[in-house]
Amino acid sequence: MVDPVSFLEQHGNSTVVPLRWENRCFYLLDQRVLPWEQKWLRIKEAEECAAAIRDLVVRGAPAIGICAAFGMVLAVQGATGRGMVLKETIDEAAALLNRARPTAVNLNWAVERMLKAYQKVEGQEEETVFKAMEQEALSIWQEDIEANIAMGGHGAALIPDSGTILTHCNAGALATGGYGTALGVIRAAFYAGKDIDVLADETRPWLQGARLTAYELKADNIPVKVCVDSAAGFFMRQGKVQAVVVGADRIAANGDVANKIGTYSAAQVAWANNIPFYVAAPASTLDINTPNGSAISIEVRDQSEVTIIAGKVMVPEGVEAVNPVFDITPAELITAIITEKGVLRPPYDSAIASCFH
Ligand code: MRU
Repeated sequence: MVDPVSFLEQHGNSTVVPLRWENRCFYLLDQRVLPWEQKWLRIKEAEECAAAIRDLVVRGAPAIGICAAFGMVLAVQGATGRGMVLKETIDEAAALLNRARPTAVNLNWAVERMLKAYQKVEGQEEETVFKAMEQEALSIWQEDIEANIAMGGHGAALIPDSGTILTHCNAGALATGGYGTALGVIRAAFYAGKDIDVLADETRPWLQGARLTAYELKADNIPVKVCVDSAAGFFMRQGKVQAVVVGADRIAANGDVANKIGTYSAAQVAWANNIPFYVAAPASTLDINTPNGSAISIEVRDQSEVTIIAGKVMVPEGVEAVNPVFDITPAELITAIITEKGVLRPPYDSAIASCFH
């Protein structure tokens, strides 16, 4: 059977993993309490899995997809002992998981793969169905790690031999099956001997940069400093950033990229200062059915994520906040898209289409 954690240990050279599947039990590292606590939560049902995605216990497009795949396995597990795994059970779990968050296409992609795996064994004995679903979820996980490592290899060549690399949000091991997309590229460049350090935007309001990117880079001894999001432009203008690398939640057919709010601003300033701006993402993040960024659904989360800091309300009573959590970076601001299949360059429509041939 595929064993993603051993695979990562042998090939990945990265210590943080956001999920575990052990003896048919599913666990998630609770990213809401990092870096203060390393708390593992046992997830027992598809519904709990959807809630974990919604509440950001697990986050990052590829990690959400892998988690949803295990959510489907849990749905099958919950249905065994009743004679047959009913298609209704599978369809309900798929719908529930698909609704958990709207922007990352990896979620729907993984659920779709699990549905196809189920179709192949529909009507067969319960244990056969369970094993097929378990195997598919493990494959999705391991393929993600393999993609990240391949992406790292392609992307490392684009990173300068020395200097500072800016990143936004967390597109690392914690956001994937392990190793990371943007941080995978940075890891590969660092391990190849490049003299680089990382400037991590803190990433308001949820602080994925300050809490998570800094956490996993520190764990792997990769030099990192955190800055407020609004300082990134200042450093780029001063010539203190040599490249920007970010991840993606969905890449439209024309190369427009949905990623964490603030990515567009970083791309715009990088463009204005002639700094290469790279997006690293697996092919599972490419969405050829969405023509451009304006067709991507942008998640809007509760305003309390913005207004409340460390338990205190930071705005005067009666003042509201708005909290879109992703934005769209137009394709023309992106120097290259790094995938496991190679480095895509403009024009992106044909480069992206070629990944599906
Ligand atoms: O809200 P989040 O933390 O799920 O947002 C995550 C991002 O925007 C990441 O950059 C993206 O999912 C790529 S993760 C490899």
